[in-house]
Amino acid sequence: MGQMRHVLLLLAFIQIVVIAAETDGRDRGCTFRLIVINLTVYNLRMLTGTNLMGQLSGDIGSLTELETLSLTNCGLYGPIPGAIGSLQQLIFLDLNSNKFSGKIPNSIGNLSNLYYLDFTGNQLDGSIPVSVGTLPGLDMLHQAKHFHLGMNQLSGTIPPELFNSDMSLIHVLLDNNKLTGSIPSTLGLVKSLEVVRLDRNSLSSPLPTTLLNLTNVLELYLSNNLLTGPMLNLTAMNLLSYLLAFYVRMMEHTHLQGPIPVNLFSIPDLQKVVLSNNQLNGTLNIGTTYSNELQYIDLQNNSFTIFQPITGGQSITLLLDGNPICENTNSVARSYCTVAPSNSSYSTPPNNCSQVSCGSNQVASPHCKCAYPYTVSIFFMTLSSLDLGNSSYYSALEELLIQKFQSSELPVDSISLSNPTMESAGYLELTLEVFPSGEDHFNQTAISMLGSVLVNMTFDPPAAFGPFYIISQPYPYAANWDPVLGSGGAPQLKAAKQFFFEELKKYTNSFSEANAIGSGGYGKVYKGTLSSGQMIAIKRARKDSTQGGLEFKTEIELLSRVHHRNLVTLLGFCFDQGEQMLVYEYIPNGTLMDSLSGKSGIRLDWMRRLKVAIGAARGLVYLHEDANPPIIHRDIKSNNILLDESLNAKVADFGLSKIKVDSKRSYVSTQVKGTLGYMDPEYYMTQQLTEKSDVYSFGVLMLELITARKPIERGKFIVREVRNVMDKTKVLYNLQEILDPAIGLGKTLEGLEKYADLAMRCVEEAGADRPTMGEVVKEIEDIMQLAGMNPNAESVPTSSSTFDEVSKGSSHLPYSEDAFGYSGSFPPSTVKSK
Ligand SMILES: *[C@@H]1O[C@H](CO)[C@@H](O)[C@H](O)[C@H]1NC(C)=O
Ligand SMILES: *[C@@H]1O[C@H](CO)[C@@H](O)[C@H](O)[C@H]1NC(C)=O
Ligand SMILES: *[C@@H]1O[C@H](CO)[C@@H](O)[C@H](O)[C@H]1NC(C)=O
Ligand SMILES: *[C@@H]1O[C@H](CO)[C@@H](O)[C@H](O)[C@H]1NC(C)=O
Ligand SMILES: *[C@@H]1O[C@H](CO)[C@@H](O)[C@H](O)[C@H]1NC(C)=O
Ligand SMILES: *[C@@H]1O[C@H](CO)[C@@H](O)[C@H](O)[C@H]1NC(C)=O
Ligand SMILES: *[C@@H]1O[C@H](CO)[C@@H](O)[C@H](O)[C@H]1NC(C)=O
Ligand SMILES: *[C@@H]1O[C@H](CO)[C@@H](O)[C@H](O)[C@H]1NC(C)=O
Ligand SMILES: *[C@@H]1O[C@H](CO)[C@@H](O)[C@H](O)[C@H]1NC(C)=O
Ligand SMILES: *[C@@H]1O[C@H](CO)[C@@H](O)[C@H](O)[C@H]1NC(C)=O
Ligand SMILES: *[C@@H]1O[C@H](CO)[C@@H](O)[C@H](O)[C@H]1NC(C)=O
Ligand SMILES: *[C@@H]1O[C@H](CO)[C@@H](O)[C@H](O)[C@H]1NC(C)=O
Repeated sequence: MGQMRHVLLLLAFIQIVVIAAETDGRDRGCTFRLIVINLTVYNLRMLTGTNLMGQLSGDIGSLTELETLSLTNCGLYGPIPGAIGSLQQLIFLDLNSNKFSGKIPNSIGNLSNLYYLDFTGNQLDGSIPVSVGTLPGLDMLHQAKHFHLGMNQLSGTIPPELFNSDMSLIHVLLDNNKLTGSIPSTLGLVKSLEVVRLDRNSLSSPLPTTLLNLTNVLELYLSNNLLTGPMLNLTAMNLLSYLLAFYVRMMEHTHLQGPIPVNLFSIPDLQKVVLSNNQLNGTLNIGTTYSNELQYIDLQNNSFTIFQPITGGQSITLLLDGNPICENTNSVARSYCTVAPSNSSYSTPPNNCSQVSCGSNQVASPHCKCAYPYTVSIFFMTLSSLDLGNSSYYSALEELLIQKFQSSELPVDSISLSNPTMESAGYLELTLEVFPSGEDHFNQTAISMLGSVLVNMTFDPPAAFGPFYIISQPYPYAANWDPVLGSGGAPQLKAAKQFFFEELKKYTNSFSEANAIGSGGYGKVYKGTLSSGQMIAIKRARKDSTQGGLEFKTEIELLSRVHHRNLVTLLGFCFDQGEQMLVYEYIPNGTLMDSLSGKSGIRLDWMRRLKVAIGAARGLVYLHEDANPPIIHRDIKSNNILLDESLNAKVADFGLSKIKVDSKRSYVSTQVKGTLGYMDPEYYMTQQLTEKSDVYSFGVLMLELITARKPIERGKFIVREVRNVMDKTKVLYNLQEILDPAIGLGKTLEGLEKYADLAMRCVEEAGADRPTMGEVVKEIEDIMQLAGMNPNAESVPTSSSTFDEVSKGSSHLPYSEDAFGYSGSFPPSTVKSK
């Protein structure tokens, strides 16, 4: 079972996106952009060094006010949830460069306001969804200007129903898929089209004559398909002079009537036609009626055997390399048969300054200053190899970018473009480096905004550059963790302090083995001592298996907002030098589990157990009732209860915690997470998480506390075991045989029956039948009074005189893997009790 963790995107307390994320994976530059309808930018964050590596949860469907949803290059996988179809306000939907698989959900067709749809670079398969009966489909997206579905595994024919005359598409990019069949003639109905990319599929002839109706098309990409036949349907030729000119040759080569019916080059604004790597054969004739704008025709690697020279004075780049006509040394086509190698090396030149050499990871800006640039790859989907060496593209782009950054008041000193390359999908890739002004690095806010400006540019790309997308590189140099950008009362870190790596290194004796007090999949936990003498516990993520930056941040945000004596306090964090660390108060006496198992040497009598129970319960009441927003812990277990020097209980690990959405809905729908044996069966069945799920886990914990049995031990489920043994007519309800002897059997165990009653109510099947944590606290207080204790006393009298000394050592791991990790997502079959 993979280690799964949950990531919450806090949208200013209002809405939550839940993404289940894996803890292990590689760093990446993941760009987030979520904008709510009234254009308040709630959380515009660019998480550098972030690795989401998770699935997009259907919860996204509850963000009904979302106008922009952009999660690019985030390692997201699994299906695109159909619930996205509920985001009725969505205008910009950009999920490019992830690993989404499965079909494109039909429900996307419900997004009647959608303007920009980008799923480029995923693993989506199946056919392109069109509406059938009441089922929506992409053909209903009449407002959409962009369908960017390239670089997926889409298969089947392009459905003729996909296109209709009510659409306003300008870019249809279906390239680099597995589409078959012929191009539907309905494509010609979408008059607004400017760029059509159908290349790198398995499409076959004939091309529909209706392509001629696309009078606004500038660029047509049909290369790398299975198109066959001659280019031109002679009977479709509309110009008499042309017909006459051609007639003679036609007579000579009677085999010329072919199946491809297009007077393709006469589309009025056509600039670029790419048809390379097909099996087009017969005669190539560009005709005399070709577009005045025509600049570029790529017909490399086809089977043309006859070439009709181009008439007219227009300068057209025609590429014919790889056709049989090029083998004929006398052919007039010869001049088109060699491709002049384009000068593809470009790099923004230094701006009137003398070159400097920079230290590690720093780069010299065009102003010859050393700094840490923010680096982005830009992928242009319609620039061809011809444009590769044209430096006027690059200078125009430089100008545009600088202007955008300046108008957004970003601290940008200069930018540099370099390394233009044609990559295998036929996109022109270019590296952009953005250099900071003032300091040598950007802060997190600035990085977020840079990403945002760039992503937004893809929305309405300047025509000269055509459609493009960006992939940001991780930016580990933003030492300041600036939690949230923008207006709208976003969460702030209140108490948590930022530590620098060098500091923590000092406090932990260079993270020495002797200071290690726990370890797990995420990395290690070290004990440290601040200069003040205060002990700290540092959870240090292993570099290659960190939790995502977002998750890290979420944990900080959550933990730094909650303060209660029965909750482990976050003192600070470190996000520096590529490290992610959380700094907690040190809790000296280990986990409750270690005490119950005898591992820590701490012996808990009945009164101490009651004190642990009341402490943990109070911590939970705080989370449920006093925290703002309320928090459901959802992983209450003995491993997450730590004991301080006076054996007060401290609830740990909010990594799996869940903030309640709003008071109107009393539950949070989510993927089921939790720990085997403690998990609320109702939550498991309905996937609706409420505070009552914590109450269930707490009930299991109460039983564990008196029996010292794990919830599931040797296949036996503690709840059922207690239920089976329990006999209310007998003394101590007949529970002696399963009580932990260390509790002080033989003593009176005043209140134990009431305690057992309470625990069993907490584990009632139906959440509604369980008490609230507030009620649980009251009842435990009553039980404590029955047992002769003051529920509010700081120290607890021991009924037992024996008290084992704690043996300090490596077994003493308050932050063991379990205290942070998620372990298991399914309830055991034994949970189906009754
Ligand atoms: C914008 O939307 C948010 C969330 O719906 C809301 O809290 C805020 O009041 C709205 N602001 C305006 C000006 O409508
Ligand atoms: C599409 O929207 C309609 C209402 O506008 C709704 O009834 C239907 O369930 C939605 N379909 C999907 C697949 O989301
Ligand atoms: C579309 O093209 C077809 C075939 O070339 C032509 O008959 C038809 O009139 C055109 N339709 C429009 C609306 O231009
Ligand atoms: C060629 O074009 C004419 C006129 O548009 C059309 O009637 C004919 O069907 C086309 N031939 C083929 C093979 O598509
Ligand atoms: C063009 O290719 C097709 C399919 O391979 C073939 O049937 C046809 O005869 C070819 N035409 C010419 C003129 O070579
Ligand atoms: C044409 O085919 C050759 C040989 O397979 C290949 O090297 C070249 O890249 C192809 N040209 C294009 C434009 O795809
Ligand atoms: C290619 O471009 C680079 C930079 O634009 C220039 O320095 C170089 O001389 C050019 N090379 C050729 C062969 O034109
Ligand atoms: C380059 O810098 C020098 C000194 O700063 C200045 O005198 C000169 O005018 C600059 N040249 C250009 C082309 O900007
Ligand atoms: C280079 O790009 C510019 C701007 O798009 C264009 O005007 C010019 O014709 C191009 N030059 C060549 C040689 O393609
Ligand atoms: C981060 O950079 C932004 C943009 O320059 C600036 O407005 C903000 O004050 C900076 N934040 C911090 C915490 O330095
Ligand atoms: C994004 O770009 C669009 C179109 O260019 C513009 O209208 C909008 O204001 C921009 N949004 C943001 C948040 O920059
Ligand atoms: C708990 O830890 C404190 C501090 O390390 C220690 O002095 C004390 O003996 C421990 N308590 C018990 C009950 O072992």
